[in-house]
Amino acid sequence: MMFMTAIAALLGVASQVANAAPVHETRDVWDPRILYPHAGTVWYSGQRHNVTWETSDAPKQITGANGGFILLRSGEYETPVVLAHDITLLDGRVEVTVPDVITGNFSLVLFGDSGNWGDDFLINGVITF
Ligand SMILES: *[C@@H]1O[C@H](CO)[C@@H](O)[C@H](O)[C@H]1NC(C)=O
Ligand SMILES: *[C@@H]1O[C@H](CO)[C@@H](O)[C@H](O)[C@H]1NC(C)=O
Repeated sequence: MMFMTAIAALLGVASQVANAAPVHETRDVWDPRILYPHAGTVWYSGQRHNVTWETSDAPKQITGANGGFILLRSGEYETPVVLAHDITLLDGRVEVTVPDVITGNFSLVLFGDSGNWGDDFLINGVITF
């Protein structure tokens, strides 16, 4: 069920991107800015951390206000790794467990109204090459 919701949200984002240029959106599109983790952050697999984002610029009407989710992004690619789902966007934070990864630089993508990714930061994973 959650998976379907995530797919639906992804498709929604994709069609939004496809239509982005010529269409004038009547509703507000809000891209919450991720505050933490940021450049210079170092996480270790298995740790728990609060991901935080800016909420002061939220519009009155938010599409998908309680259906936000966070994906792990590696370089230019969004991975299918979900760090959190069913997020209430106005909370401005959600606690996540750092997944088991190969040590490297990652970023997070917060999907709400739209997709918005944060800075690259380091995860010290369970395997380091
Ligand atoms: C995340 O924030 C909440 C609320 O401030 C706090 O209770 C919790 O301990 C924090 N979690 C971590 C892992 O820091
Ligand atoms: C992460 O990025 C920094 C800055 O670009 C780089 O110095 C470092 O080698 C990278 N670390 C890994 C494990 O890729």
